[in-house]
Amino acid sequence: MKILLINGPNLQLLGVREPGIYGGVTLPEIVSRLRGCAAELGCELIDFQSNHEGEIVDRIGNAKSDGIDGIVMNPAAYTHTSVAIRDALAAVRLPTVEVHLSNIHAREAFRHESLTAPMCIGVMAGFGADTYEWALRALHRRLTSRV
Ligand code: DQA
Repeated sequence: MKILLINGPNLQLLGVREPGIYGGVTLPEIVSRLRGCAAELGCELIDFQSNHEGEIVDRIGNAKSDGIDGIVMNPAAYTHTSVAIRDALAAVRLPTVEVHLSNIHAREAFRHESLTAPMCIGVMAGFGADTYEWALRALHRRLTSRV
């Protein structure tokens, strides 16, 4: 099983970026922890970070032909703005779990709306770096369960 991990803009700065909100764990650390979890679940994890909306759209659009079974994605600021990423998810229809390190509903009003969440099977938010692991486990469960 192949899982694509997508991280959007500014997440390459995790660890130094507003640590009071996003925590002190860096993106390479998050990816490495998630690789361990993926290995335990018997999945291959393909990791992609970009600050550019079009690159994320391209990656989602190619996901099926790349043999991807499901997506874990933190669209970061594009969560709240990107019709293009929402449309890409609607086009490929791959099971996707949206991730946010922070609880976006407990923050500024402009973060309460997610344009991408309606195209996802679920959303996990507010548990810092651990959120990625819960999202991967939930996605794996959905992909392997018979119900
Ligand atoms: C974020 C929340 C977004 O509102 C913000 O723009 C981010 C990170 C999170 O992981 O908590 O860049 O997606």
